[in-house]
Amino acid sequence: MRAFITLEGPDGSGKSTQAALLAERLRQLDFPVVLTREPGGTAVGDQLREILLDPDNQLAVMTEVLLMAADRAQHVEEVIKPALENNMIVICDRYVDSSLAYQGFGLLGDPRQVKAINEVAIGGVWPTLTVLLDVQPEVGLRRHVLRSSSRTEDNGLDRIEQRDLSFHQRVREGYHELQKIYQERFALIDTTLLEIETVAEKVWEIVVQRLEIKTR
Ligand code: TYD
Repeated sequence: MRAFITLEGPDGSGKSTQAALLAERLRQLDFPVVLTREPGGTAVGDQLREILLDPDNQLAVMTEVLLMAADRAQHVEEVIKPALENNMIVICDRYVDSSLAYQGFGLLGDPRQVKAINEVAIGGVWPTLTVLLDVQPEVGLRRHVLRSSSRTEDNGLDRIEQRDLSFHQRVREGYHELQKIYQERFALIDTTLLEIETVAEKVWEIVVQRLEIKTR
């Protein structure tokens, strides 16, 4: 089966954990799965990730938009497209909607320019299903600080996470707008009060239904 599933949401929404749990569950049913992430997911992408997230770097807004898109273009060519051509299920922890929400709504206040740039970067490779793990920014960032206390950066937050609360609120509202624009591929789960296992169960129900997976 060929499918392209993306997990999206504000920082600390638990995407990475859920992406891993989903991949494991699909593999248990013998589906070939590629689990990957952005920024990163390729050797070049990991270098771009370093530049993008280093709190010591001062990036112009368009530099940030274009480096995210460059990372994505590399990732699509090197990882995502080949896997889909081999009829695999690709699970990607953040993709084009992260740029629309963070750089589009969060930085520029409008997603149109970011969308145009990203359309060039992805060459028509849009997700089949996008699971939006919603969380209030206050709750998400707190989870993040608690989880990453061992990191080297001050307070454990990267360059983008360190932005003020109003930025993160625009990102979250941006995701809600995207859900309205792309209704047919979006599914939202409010994770604010839920345990990891409960969220995983909800993600699984959505995936089974949307991909029409037979579980028995
Ligand atoms: P992520 O890998 O989810 O962070 P972590 O592993 O620390 O949980 O993402 C790193 C940051 O990059 C996050 O704050 C969101 C941001 N980001 C964008 O702003 N635009 C994008 O297009 C992508 C992919 C990520």
